[in-house]
This record gives sequence, C-alpha cells and structure tokens, in this order.
Amino acid sequence: MSLTRSDVAARVLADCVPEPVDAFEAFAPVNIALCKYWGKRNALLNLPVNDSLSVSLAKKGSTTKVCWLPEQAEDEVILNGDAVDRDSSFYKKVVAHADLFRSLVPGALRVETVNSVATGAGLASSASGFAALTRALAGVYGLPLNDEQLSILARMGSGSASRSVYEGFVRWHKGVRADGMDSLARPLSEIWPDLRVGVLTLTSEVKKTGSREGMQRTVDSAILYGAWPEQAERDIARIEHAIAVRDFTLLGATSEQNALAMHATMLASWPPLLYWQPESVAVLQKVWQLRADGLQVYATMDAGPNVKLLFEAGSEADVRLAFPDIDVVVPFG
Ligand code: DP6
Repeated sequence: MSLTRSDVAARVLADCVPEPVDAFEAFAPVNIALCKYWGKRNALLNLPVNDSLSVSLAKKGSTTKVCWLPEQAEDEVILNGDAVDRDSSFYKKVVAHADLFRSLVPGALRVETVNSVATGAGLASSASGFAALTRALAGVYGLPLNDEQLSILARMGSGSASRSVYEGFVRWHKGVRADGMDSLARPLSEIWPDLRVGVLTLTSEVKKTGSREGMQRTVDSAILYGAWPEQAERDIARIEHAIAVRDFTLLGATSEQNALAMHATMLASWPPLLYWQPESVAVLQKVWQLRADGLQVYATMDAGPNVKLLFEAGSEADVRLAFPDIDVVVPFG
C-alpha cells in the first residue's frame, strides 16, 4: 500500500501537542540550485532521484501570515493583496498543504502571502512560498517543529521548498526511505560573502510546461536521463568541495555544466522540452565570450527562459556593464 501525504504528515507531527494562536507570520527565501533537483522517485511525496544543492537569496522571498479562524467555514487565500479564486490551482495547493496539519487542529484559515520577487522574475516563488507557508502553519498551530521536520513538510508542497527553509548554502539529501522521512535539507556551515547572484529577467511570459510536468516527462521519455543521477552526484561533490576551499572557478563551472546537462535531458524528452528563448541563448553566448575575455562569470537556468549569473564581488562592475538590467543579489549580505 502506498503512503499518502497525510500519512507522512501524521508521522512528522506524531509527538506534537498543538497550542494554536490567532495568527503567525513567517518569511522564507527563494533559492537557486547550483546542482539541480530534476526527477522524482515518488511524485506524490516529491521524493527526488538525486541530492541537490542551492544558495538562498537572503531577503528575496515570501512572507506568509496565517490566521486561524475556527468560526469561519472556508479558507481564504490572498496573494500579493488580491483574493485568490477558490477554483484556481494555487488556492487548491495552499488548502491541500494546510490540510496536512488540519487533522491536529480543525478550522478555517486565512493565508496571506506577499512575494518580494516579481512574478515572472525567473525566481521560483513556489519554493519560498511553500517554505514560508509551512513555517507559518507550524507557528499558528503552536507546533514545536525543528527545521528538518519543516523541510520534510515543505518538500511535500514543492520539492525545492525543502531547501528554502534555510539561509545560505543548502543541501537536500534525497533519502532512501519510502516514507521520505530522511528526504530533507540541511544547511552547509560555510558562507561566501563575496558571492553574487545576478538575475536576468528576459521575459515574463508564463511558461507552458511547469517544472513538475517537465521533470516527469523527462524521466518518462528521455533515455539521456539515465546519465543524470551520475552527473548530479559528481557535480554536488565538486560544488561542496568548491565551497569548502572557496574555488569560484570550480563552483561556477560545475554549476553551469550541471544546469546545461539538466536542459540536455529536457531536450532529449518527447515531446521535446526547450525552455530557452533566443534571448536566453544570446545571454549564454555573451557569458561565454566574457569568460574568453577573462571575466569569471557563469550561468545557470531553471525550468524557464531566464538566466541567473554567478560571479564574485570583484567582477560586479564588469558584469553590470555587460548586463545593465541585471538584478544583483548578495546571498550572504
Ligand atoms: C529546475 O520544486 O518546482 O528549479 O517538486 O514538482 O514542485 P516540484 O518541482 P520544483 O522543481 C524545481 C526544479 C528546478 C531545479 C531546482 O530548483 O533544483
């Protein structure tokens, strides 16, 4: 018999005695994967095929306030100040996540989320959104959960949300258990104050295929995907080493190769998946030219056309000159 999300939530919450409060607000940052999560061994629980490693973007993220309204009949969901339609997939996802906790404390909720990242900015607000929601739910129900328990619960909302529970560098351990109780993220102790992440928003068009559907299609149809777990395992070891010895060239090169390898598996899927736009290719080619000219700048991309650049503080002026519209984030600011 396969486990449901509620079964797993019940295991995480087993020893908790709730002490609800009226309202609780929490923040979680967005994160950029340097070694990507791509492919699941269990789609219901968001259990990944490979470990992944990310860097959180400090103050860019989601702030979520949850109010407990036991007198009210239905949940209310508000996103960036606007009430969300009850028929929308966003509303249903938020309610389904709240339901994971609701066996402990019944009653309706009002969930208000504000994203400090503009929609379409090429930063996954679902990661920060589910991490903030998980923290806020734990807070409003007065549940003394630690970060690893929060990471497990956030992961069931969206896989990459497991990493947004923390600041800084974060590794999501894929785990081997069927119930996913060992599939959780932990922070790395290292910091890198000079690291910069530049976000290039090339288009804010809504993508046709989300990452959830895209990764499933890749797993199901791309023979090339067979090579991905080995690629990810090699890359994550290199990235952890690069962080430990502060080798920016190794960090940047490995991250870029990892992203391009992930996109290669998408392209090898059927129907083919290509998130890139002509502008994305132009940015990649410019990055490669800048490197040939001696500037240490690397690119990474997720399931969308926008490009994120990795560089160090000393290169910031040159990167800004080459990409005047770049939004530069200091992850360890
Ligand atoms: C390409 O976490 O959005 O950004 O678990 O189905 O919600 P679900 O997928 P999601 O996938 C993110 C994929 C990625 C790579 C990454 O962030 O590691």
